[in-house]
Amino acid sequence: MRRKLAAGNWKMNGTAASLAELAVLGAQLGDDGPDVVICPPAPLLFRAVHAAEDTRIAIGAQDCHMQPKGAFTGDISAQMIADTGAQYVIVGHSERRDTHKERNADINAKTLMAWASGLTAIICVGEELSDHEQNNTLDIIAGQLAGSLPDGAQAHNTVIAYEPIWAIGTGKVPTLEEIIAVHDSIRATLINRLGDETGNAIPLLYGGSVKPDNAETIFKAENVDGALVGGASLKAADFAPIIAALARS
Ligand code: PGA
Repeated sequence: MRRKLAAGNWKMNGTAASLAELAVLGAQLGDDGPDVVICPPAPLLFRAVHAAEDTRIAIGAQDCHMQPKGAFTGDISAQMIADTGAQYVIVGHSERRDTHKERNADINAKTLMAWASGLTAIICVGEELSDHEQNNTLDIIAGQLAGSLPDGAQAHNTVIAYEPIWAIGTGKVPTLEEIIAVHDSIRATLINRLGDETGNAIPLLYGGSVKPDNAETIFKAENVDGALVGGASLKAADFAPIIAALARS
């Protein structure tokens, strides 16, 4: 049995007051069920870890630097993230690949840093609308995975999130058949590269406009082990039903 994971990416949203959502969400989670992680903006990490202390919610960051330390004004190292008590870090989100021109090799290096600091890396891949329209999705994803995922990935420190760029924040979602095709292909790639045991154990998340009303359908796919959720993770009232749908899947 693969572990299920619901990850919330708050992006550049929220202040200390928003952390009240963690207690509300935590109270609804019960003792078992899918793993849950919230990735708030970096200035909130310390307080988020504290706010989630009495809950099952783990805390993650949204990015880390590829170097351990040095003259990188404004950047944050994986070790600093781990030092806050956070356990996860998202790497290679399409918004960073785009705005910060991150390449697969950068994401590979960031993942190695995350692992070295004891963090679980949530490695994001996803195609643009034009790739989708030209039926290039599987090739694009295979290329991103080959470049971004370092050798030595293990199930306890690696999560892959498939997020079609055209589905992020747009309300558009691929068909279930399209999601199944991509996730099955990622699974096959992982098994091919890492062997049966590890390749089968790494959780695969779908991300891009996951909402309470479409989560149940998305989680029907055998190789969808959870979701990376943006907008609908900001409020416990939206995120809790998504987690509940994952628990039932
Ligand atoms: P969304 O964002 O759920 O708001 O579409 C997903 C993401 O970018 O991780």
